[in-house]
Amino acid sequence: MAKKTKSARRSPSRASPAKVKEEDVRRAVRQRYATLASTGSSCCPTDRSTMCGCSDLYPQAEIVSLPEAAVAVSAGCGNPTAIAGLKPGMTVVDLGSGGGIDCFLAAKKVGPKGRVYGIDATHEMLLRARKTAAENGYVNVEFRLGEIEHIPLESDVADVVISNCVINLSPDKEQVFRDAFRVLRPGGKLAVSDIVLLKDLPDELRSDLSGWSQCVSGAVSEQEYIGAMKKAGFEKVRVEERVVYTHEQLSGYVRQAPVADKERLKGLDLDQLVASYKISAMKPKK
Ligand SMILES: C[S@@+](CC[C@H](N)C(=O)[O-])C[C@H]1O[C@@H](n2cnc3c(N)ncnc32)[C@H](O)[C@@H]1O
Repeated sequence: MAKKTKSARRSPSRASPAKVKEEDVRRAVRQRYATLASTGSSCCPTDRSTMCGCSDLYPQAEIVSLPEAAVAVSAGCGNPTAIAGLKPGMTVVDLGSGGGIDCFLAAKKVGPKGRVYGIDATHEMLLRARKTAAENGYVNVEFRLGEIEHIPLESDVADVVISNCVINLSPDKEQVFRDAFRVLRPGGKLAVSDIVLLKDLPDELRSDLSGWSQCVSGAVSEQEYIGAMKKAGFEKVRVEERVVYTHEQLSGYVRQAPVADKERLKGLDLDQLVASYKISAMKPKK
């Protein structure tokens, strides 16, 4: 089981992408999630030793209300809709919407007068999410192809921006927060679940593309993550939950690593290396 803790942790050094090229990271990430979209099998819900997926993240009542095709490829590390304060009529943007699980949850909460936009850079995920929406009658959800660093939406359109286990994958997190800030209306809310680094990243993981695409190697410290939010202009930043991962949970990542990397990664102590955070923040009212 993951350990829940509220204690502050020492700030690890930055998970520097220095040894990896930005475009290589983006390509590795797209490849991984294209495969997930096509095979339709995530680590959810049977593989409990991995850290992503939906088994413990959502109330069972919510899971059973969702299309199976979305649940099957769920790859989040939290449930941002739980802290988003969604209300009927709101406009929501989901950054890195994947198979659409959080979009579909949000769609129910904002109702027919609300609107949900899911943004994802992986074409295969987008097609899968659009198909699920069409087959299940979600008329208030739209999926758009795009990078979350350059959200394909006008400024000041969203009441809430959510994201689930995606910003850690971006090689340019400051730009993600800047653009999330741009699309939010004044007084709007950012509600994210994401992986945050708790201690120094072992050298073996720093430039590991498989580690990036599995939400480990791109993670940065709480200080850096929240610093980037504040730099973009967000205020009232709150860590709402912190769930620390055990070695056993992260060992799923090592098992899924390419064969050539397995031996190298096997000896690493991954205990309490990263945690899943729920963080909220506000765009100031004008
Ligand atoms: C770990 S999955 C999470 C998907 C979804 N949020 C969920 O909870 O199931 C990451 C998703 O983000 C997308 N993604 C990663 N980096 C992205 C970027 N820079 N811009 C847009 N989408 C991105 C991937 O294509 C993938 O679908």
